[in-house]
Amino acid sequence: MENVKLTQYSHGAGCGCKISPKILDEILHSSFSMPDNKNLLVGNHSKDDAAVYDLNNGTALISTTDFFMPIVDDPYNFGRIASANAISDVYAMGGKPILAIAILGWPINLLAPSVATKVIEGSKSICIEAGIPLAGGHSIDSPEPIFGLAVNGLVNIEHLKKNNTAQPGDLLLLTKKIGVGILTTAEKKGLLQDEDISLASDQMMVLNKIGSLLSGFSGVHAMTDVTGFGLLGHLIEMAEGSGVSAVLEFSKVHIISEKLINYVELGSVPGGTNRNWDSYGHKVGFTDTDKSILYKNILADPQTSGGLLVAVSKEEYRNIVELMKEEGLEQHIEPIGEIIKETNVTVLVN
Ligand code: CO
Ligand code: CO
Repeated sequence: MENVKLTQYSHGAGCGCKISPKILDEILHSSFSMPDNKNLLVGNHSKDDAAVYDLNNGTALISTTDFFMPIVDDPYNFGRIASANAISDVYAMGGKPILAIAILGWPINLLAPSVATKVIEGSKSICIEAGIPLAGGHSIDSPEPIFGLAVNGLVNIEHLKKNNTAQPGDLLLLTKKIGVGILTTAEKKGLLQDEDISLASDQMMVLNKIGSLLSGFSGVHAMTDVTGFGLLGHLIEMAEGSGVSAVLEFSKVHIISEKLINYVELGSVPGGTNRNWDSYGHKVGFTDTDKSILYKNILADPQTSGGLLVAVSKEEYRNIVELMKEEGLEQHIEPIGEIIKETNVTVLVN
């Protein structure tokens, strides 16, 4: 059991396991309605990162869960990545996490309990970084390994950040690089070059703490984290929810490795990319149509524990740049695009 390769036990990887936006819409489409709850500030009416419940004291409770199958072979790192990814939805609402509960599915006939212990230890290490207890959980015997967290957080209601409140003129920022789906697929196919081996894991284990700090800026109009639907998918959710369109500058989007394009050309494209594209490709336009396939493969690449996508007014931009530099995010201060008035394409890629 020393050299278990966790990804061999899973059919999908990380947020690439997510059900596509199109099928999710189908599942959630129902005439069975729930009575409205006046305390529910964010719920099923929008496609946001977490549910938000007004505690009637100026504060709201944020509640979210994320779990998936292994995206890396190392069990400790799998626990760290799944946990950083789950906690991210609290940061994406501008909140501070307070408490986490673990969700574990384990093929007990195939994988030793000691391997699951490592997953949970990885999770604990990230919870310590986030300053929250891992306070319990639930486990089942399942055909594939699954891990994730249910996380609660708190937010001052005036500082709550939604994903459907972007405004024309807002600049778009992204706090992590794009391409972890391509790199992890290249690794599975044995194509990944040595110098690229830890790039994806290292980035996926970084907490999006900057979200809590950005919540204090009123000019940050909208925020979400980029996960399984890819940068384009989450930007489309933001734009559609806000009743606006967006322009994305491909050359300004940071890619995780210089060789990302080579890996794409070698066929390292996760299945999730095309599932994403089938769902929303018709909402995307390209200025340079010759590059549309390459751009699609990078911009619709499913991310796991991706960065925060932030829509910020031009006036506030100057202030958050200072904060981002202090937080070590100077690489990501250049805007990747802009929100514009609604047009016939939801996102135009330049
Ligand atoms: Co999210
Ligand atoms: Co989520």
